[in-house]
Order: sequence, then structure tokens, then C-alpha cells
Amino acid sequence: SLPDRVTIYEVGARDGLQNESGVIPLETKLELVQRLTAAGLPIVEATSFVHPKWVPQLADAGDLVARLDLHGATPYPVLVPNERGLDRALDAGVTHVAIFGSATETFAQKNLNSTYEAQFAMFEPVVRRALEAGVQVRAYLSMCFGDPWEGEVVIDRVVAAGKRLLDMGAYELSLGDTIGVGTAHHVEALLDAFTAAGVATDRLAMHFHDTYGQALTNTYAALRKGVTTFDASAGGLGGCPYAKSATGNLATEDLVWMLDGLGIAHGVDLPALAQTSAWIAQHLGRPSPSAVVRALTAG
Ligand code: HMG
Ligand code: MG
Repeated sequence: SLPDRVTIYEVGARDGLQNESGVIPLETKLELVQRLTAAGLPIVEATSFVHPKWVPQLADAGDLVARLDLHGATPYPVLVPNERGLDRALDAGVTHVAIFGSATETFAQKNLNSTYEAQFAMFEPVVRRALEAGVQVRAYLSMCFGDPWEGEVVIDRVVAAGKRLLDMGAYELSLGDTIGVGTAHHVEALLDAFTAAGVATDRLAMHFHDTYGQALTNTYAALRKGVTTFDASAGGLGGCPYAKSATGNLATEDLVWMLDGLGIAHGVDLPALAQTSAWIAQHLGRPSPSAVVRALTAG
């Protein structure tokens, strides 16, 4: 059976924009976040407090967050990799942060300049201090299906890494198919393995990139397993600068279209969202890869 309602965790402003090489003005980012909020997305990830040389596009994180209403109905989580990032986020007054670990050794090195093992020591004080400050902590785990350098990733390894992040105190674990290679039976097997390891499905979210066109099918597989939180990016914006073969996330509009057809509630205003994606696509100088955005905004 399928859930009655899902939560869409919007990542376009962060996962979407982090990969853009051109300059995107602060005002454009702010307008994107505000339009996503107005379109009814219940949680809108805004930016990252990472090293500005690693992700120059989000170097203006502090200035962006300063312009957001951090105590309204919509949370604006930010990524923080380490204590320096947490300090910046706390100074900015954020209420929600997300740590982001890797299930593989190579990606821990490429994305965090860490080792697989050392990343946990890096995150531990971040989570502890965030919780002490009353800040909610989400955890991402990347490369849960395949890794561009290591190939297919063993499920037991993903479960072990994910449990460590949850055990630190994260309220939710987002399982990332960073390079979009997963398929439906792999999703089912991974979710079954978490269940067998004692992790309740309501603590899991799925984060699909659509590189191989599998994101929506994988979402359906996860819905049938009882997952009720899905990450998506408006218009399919996105990619990861430290994982070459990663393209955009599952487009939020594609997800919403499917959920509408299934009769699953989500709270998003689809026309307003599609208009927003068409608008940001114009700013980025290329059309949205989402078929739903193109269909809804044609003509
Ligand atoms: P590092 O160079 O090893 O950092 O980078 P360090 O600890 O050695 O510090 C070096 C200098 O950087 C120091 O300054 C620090 O203060 C400064 P100095 O003393 O030399 O003047 N520094 C910072 N400055 C600002 N903000 C910070 C910060 N940290 C240190 N937070 C680090 C290590 C983790 C910082 C770096 O590797 C990094 O920023 N990585 C982030 C990469 C990233 O953002 N990737 C994309 C997000 S993940 C993703 O997209 C996947 C996801 O979508 C899920 C999926 O799809 O799978 C979430
Ligand atoms: Mg991602």
C-alpha cells in the first residue's frame, strides 16, 4: 500500500545551484528560495556553509541566510561539513543543518578531504553542538548505490554508515543515489536491509539523481516500501561538483505529477512551481530537463 501523504524536501537552491559555474546573483538565489516557499514546498534547503574555495557558487551563504525568515513556517536547512561550517551557520541563526557523509572511501576523500573513518569524527562534534544549540540535524549519505570510482556499493556498507550517522542524533537519514545509477530492485533491497537492521522507515528519506532516468521509478519503489520523504529539485536543477557523473536531482515537478496521479498529498502548487523552474532556467540560460516543466510551460 502507498502512503496518504509525503514530505518533499526541496534541494534545488543548494544541490541545484552548487554546481553552476556562472555567477548567480544573490538576489536571484533569494528570489528562488522565496518562490519555492510560496509554491508550498514544506522545507527548502537554502545553501551550504562549506569551504568557499571548494564550492564558490555558495560562498555567499551567510548573506543569503541573513535575508531569509528563519522563524517562519518553512525551515531553511543548510549543509555543514565540519565545526567551522557549524560556527558560521550558528552565527547566521539557522534552525536546521545537514551533515553529509559518504558510504565510500573515495568519495569521502573527494568530497570532504577526509577518509571514510575520519568523516565520523568530523561530524560527531557538529551534531552534538548543533543539538545542544537546539538546531535540528539531518544526515545525508552519498554513494548509496554506486560510486564512479569504486563501482557498485555493497548494501551492508551503506547500512553500517547510515546507522552511524543516525546514532549520532540525526533525526533523518537521506540516502543518496549521487550518480543516479540505482534501479528499483536495488532500492527495495537497500530499504529492506535498513528495516532488518532496526531502522524505522520514517527516519529515512530518498535522494535520487536522475542521471540514468531512474529517479521516478526508484521513487515509486521506495513509496511502496513506506518511505514518505523525498528530496527533489525544482526543474531538475543540479549535480555534485565532486562527482563528475552526477546530473540533476529528480525534478520536483515530475515527483508532484506522479503523486497527484497516485492521490498522495504533498501541498505543493504545481503551476507556481513550474513557473519558478522556467524562470530560473532562463536565468541559467538552458531549458529545464524536466518533461513536466516543459509540458506545463510550453507555448
Ligand atoms: P579542508 O581544506 O580539508 O579544510 O576542506 P580544513 O579543515 O583543512 O581547513 C582549511 C581551511 O579552510 C581553514 O582555514 C579552515 O578554517 C577553512 P585557514 O585556517 O587555512 O585559514 N574551512 C572553512 N571555511 C569556511 N567554511 C567551512 C570551512 N571548513 C574549513 N565549512 C571541507 C574540508 C570539508 C571544508 C571541504 O572539503 C568542503 O568544503 N567540502 C564540501 C564539498 C561540498 O560542498 N560538496 C557538495 C555537497 S555534498 C552533495 O552534493 C551530495 C548530496 O547532495 C547527497 C547526494 O547526492 O549524494 C548531499
Ligand atoms: Mg545530491
